[in-house]
Amino acid sequence: MKRLRVGRVDLIGGGPGPADLMTVRAHRLLMEADVVVADRLGPFEELRSQLAPHVEVIDVGKRPGHHPVPQEEINELLVRHARRGRRVVRLKGGDPFVFGRGGEEVIACEAAGVPVTVTPGVSSAISVPQAAGIPVTHRGIASAVHVINGQGEISASALASMADAAVTTVVLMGVAAIPKLAAAALATGVPAETPVAVVENGHTRDQRTIRTTIGAIVADAEEAQVTNPAVIVIGEVARAGVLLPSPDLFTAGTA
Ligand SMILES: C[S@@+](CC[C@H](N)C(=O)[O-])C[C@H]1O[C@@H](n2cnc3c(N)ncnc32)[C@H](O)[C@@H]1O
Repeated sequence: MKRLRVGRVDLIGGGPGPADLMTVRAHRLLMEADVVVADRLGPFEELRSQLAPHVEVIDVGKRPGHHPVPQEEINELLVRHARRGRRVVRLKGGDPFVFGRGGEEVIACEAAGVPVTVTPGVSSAISVPQAAGIPVTHRGIASAVHVINGQGEISASALASMADAAVTTVVLMGVAAIPKLAAAALATGVPAETPVAVVENGHTRDQRTIRTTIGAIVADAEEAQVTNPAVIVIGEVARAGVLLPSPDLFTAGTA
């Protein structure tokens, strides 16, 4: 009797961009895949040529001029391919569980009875500030980190973290929200001179850091024409010179 091959879904974190910032386990799972469902952010373009010719690649990422594939469709894709007995890898930028909707994909697989695993990744929330020489916590300067989604409502906890000099606020998906964020912070009494750094394209050759303050960020971001992807760091650790001589710690030679 012919045995049915049982498929599965592996959600893997790709890290902030360079393939060598992906975990060894994530890379192994990617190389074992029959189907790869990939996002635009992350290391996929660098790794694509390493996949075997039979591997089916499905690009569900957002690109200029293309709408992203809705989450429900991604969930269905994962389940459908796994039910055909295939090893499906869902490759995401950063970590699957940090604003990556990985939890929803796990629930969809479990509801469909499809085996699913999750492999963590290096999140941009920590690694992109690091690439610009910004430690999100630093003894004596910041003892907590609050990570928020700039596309969401500005919550009371986000305002409290920006107002607390001992807390670093890290904003993902925040470029379009800069004016809203700055206005809300200043209205709550966050000092205008609170340091802010905007780190674009962290860990890539296009990395750029704009150092400013919450009072000046709107004008400075506009003048610098800040674009996505970028991580915004608000708090004392974003001040130039915290790690003397304040270098960008990303070195092109290692990417
Ligand atoms: C949908 S969220 C995904 C976050 C991801 N799961 C993680 O853990 O890094 C996408 C946001 O991550 C940030 N991001 C990801 N990679 C980045 C990079 N290399 N440089 C700057 N920001 C990055 C940007 O804020 C971007 O808008």
